[in-house]
Amino acid sequence: MNTIEHNSNLSIDSQQNGFERIPTSVYEDSKVASRAVAEEIAEVIRDKANTGQSCVLGLATGSTPTGVYKELIEMHRNEGLSFSNVITFNLDEYFPMEPDFLQSYVYFMNENLFDHIDIKKENIHIPDGTLPKELVATFCQSYEEKILEAGGLDIQILGIGRTGHIGFNEPGSGIHSKTRMITLDHITRTDAASDFFGEENVPRKAITMGVGTILNAKKIILMAWGEGKASIVQETVEGEISDKVPATFLQTHQNTRVVLDTAAAASLVRQKTPWLVGPCNWDVALAKRATIWLSQKLDKPVLKLTERDYMDHGMSDLITDHGPAYDINIKIFNELQHTITGWPGGKPNADDTNRPERALPAKKKVVIFSPHPDDDVISMGGTFLRLVDQGHEVHVAYQTSGNIAVFDDDVIRFTDYFRDLNKDFEISNRSGDELYAKVVSSIENKKPGDEDSEEVAKIKGMIRRSEAKAACRYVGIPDENVHFLDMPFYETGQIKKDPIGPADVKIVTELLDKIQPQQVYAAGDLSDPHGTHRVCLDAIFQALAGLKTEEWTSDCWLWLYRGAWQEWDVNDIDMAVPLSPGELFRKRKAIFKHQSQKDTAVFPGADSREFWQRAEDRNRTTAQIYDQLGLAEYEAIEAFKRYEY
Ligand code: F6R
Repeated sequence: MNTIEHNSNLSIDSQQNGFERIPTSVYEDSKVASRAVAEEIAEVIRDKANTGQSCVLGLATGSTPTGVYKELIEMHRNEGLSFSNVITFNLDEYFPMEPDFLQSYVYFMNENLFDHIDIKKENIHIPDGTLPKELVATFCQSYEEKILEAGGLDIQILGIGRTGHIGFNEPGSGIHSKTRMITLDHITRTDAASDFFGEENVPRKAITMGVGTILNAKKIILMAWGEGKASIVQETVEGEISDKVPATFLQTHQNTRVVLDTAAAASLVRQKTPWLVGPCNWDVALAKRATIWLSQKLDKPVLKLTERDYMDHGMSDLITDHGPAYDINIKIFNELQHTITGWPGGKPNADDTNRPERALPAKKKVVIFSPHPDDDVISMGGTFLRLVDQGHEVHVAYQTSGNIAVFDDDVIRFTDYFRDLNKDFEISNRSGDELYAKVVSSIENKKPGDEDSEEVAKIKGMIRRSEAKAACRYVGIPDENVHFLDMPFYETGQIKKDPIGPADVKIVTELLDKIQPQQVYAAGDLSDPHGTHRVCLDAIFQALAGLKTEEWTSDCWLWLYRGAWQEWDVNDIDMAVPLSPGELFRKRKAIFKHQSQKDTAVFPGADSREFWQRAEDRNRTTAQIYDQLGLAEYEAIEAFKRYEY
């Protein structure tokens, strides 16, 4: 029960389960899935080349298809896949948009695919974001004609937006719509805000192929990765056809396949409630999931569930094979009970048979990895406080500087302060003035999307460092236990980061080997395919794998907390640390030390609540769920999953 279970490498193909209306394949992760899609595309390109025909591809941008493009580039380099017979049509482009802008889809496609393959430039088509408005309609018509002249789209690949858009066909788009100018949905603009350094810079319009254009493709592959897409994927694959979710129109197409990683498939009936689909192989993990689901559905504590409740909800075989209900209820109740502990570092001198952590050693060395300088207190501030209060040797390792998430305004404020400090204390009047002038001029001359100057980036990093140090001081750990790793993958000066490299892994390895902890905490955003958290986690996995032969690692447990955005499902929680109202308040004060992130952060995402509010809401919700399941009622709970590496 303690391990994160991975499916086998093979995709789980759509079952005729009566719930899915589009054939759907689920893969272990987005990398394996992207490889499969790339192979499918390569096969069509080769088949067409063998018969002297061109292959017409409909392409998408965004984070979803980048893995497919990487695989295609690999195949071009290593397997001789040629694109000389390929003609491409991209789905969309922002309007207005200059092709050399960082955010343009022309730039994106060149960088992610076209610059690395042998496609003929004249065979590339992307909607033109530079046209005068009055020429757009004619352009759109000719875009449609060009697709037809090329012989129609052989394969169209798609991502899906949180609004259910395909291309930029936002809710309300008709099934027969063609290439046209549209107005972007508010949610879509929020999602694009970080690419544009602020929502105010995101264009309000775009040119997009229509739903009808897409449906004319001979084959369509819609891909989605990560839990953020799970609910819109569920609506697309299992919901009624409606223009409220334009992707549902794909249900009318005869040759569409949805390709998912396990996280994006999580809300499909077959994944979420497989007992409603057919007989299951019941193990403790599945029984726990089913019992929790039933208890929540009926709003009844676990110990009050009856035979009838199980039978009426597709779980007759669970009752027959493992019943009666009384036994199942007790078993699952105890499983849940045993996740709760006020001693996250283990309870000294206590029988630890049914506790999440070992009693020994009584005083543990602990490393908390925090991808950004505030994830530690936001996601596990209460547990951090408890570990320190209970006498463990706690270290925090901040993996990145977090410097891009600081407002320019704060840099000016701090430099001004430094200037006055210099003057008043007569340290060196000139350097303060000089720095101030330099910083202000570089900020004033910066356009949205430009990199910060070296000084500004450095000061931003320093602001976040000083906040993290203040939070650690508040929690009560000495300065020498606070480690700033400044992992190099992050220091691009851009929102887009480099991939993980050996230098990143080395830094993490060296720290771990120096401290030799018994407990490691890390941000476990396992299925976030691109974000900083995922890279930070990979560095820890790789470091621990490299250290496997070191004796200390055999007694080192890895606990995963969730990043700022989600919480673990109750059935995944291996350790639940309750917080009293007082502890929750202390946690809030630790988060408040991160002043640069308060009163709206630079990258707040789609959620308008502040980080401390999100953290408290989430911890209170977990406590309410435990309470509803019939366990003790706490003010708040922080949750962890153990990862066996
Ligand atoms: C991109 C496009 C959009 C994206 C969708 C998902 O050309 O038309 O429909 O596919 O917004 O974006 P990502 O992949 O970034 O989550």
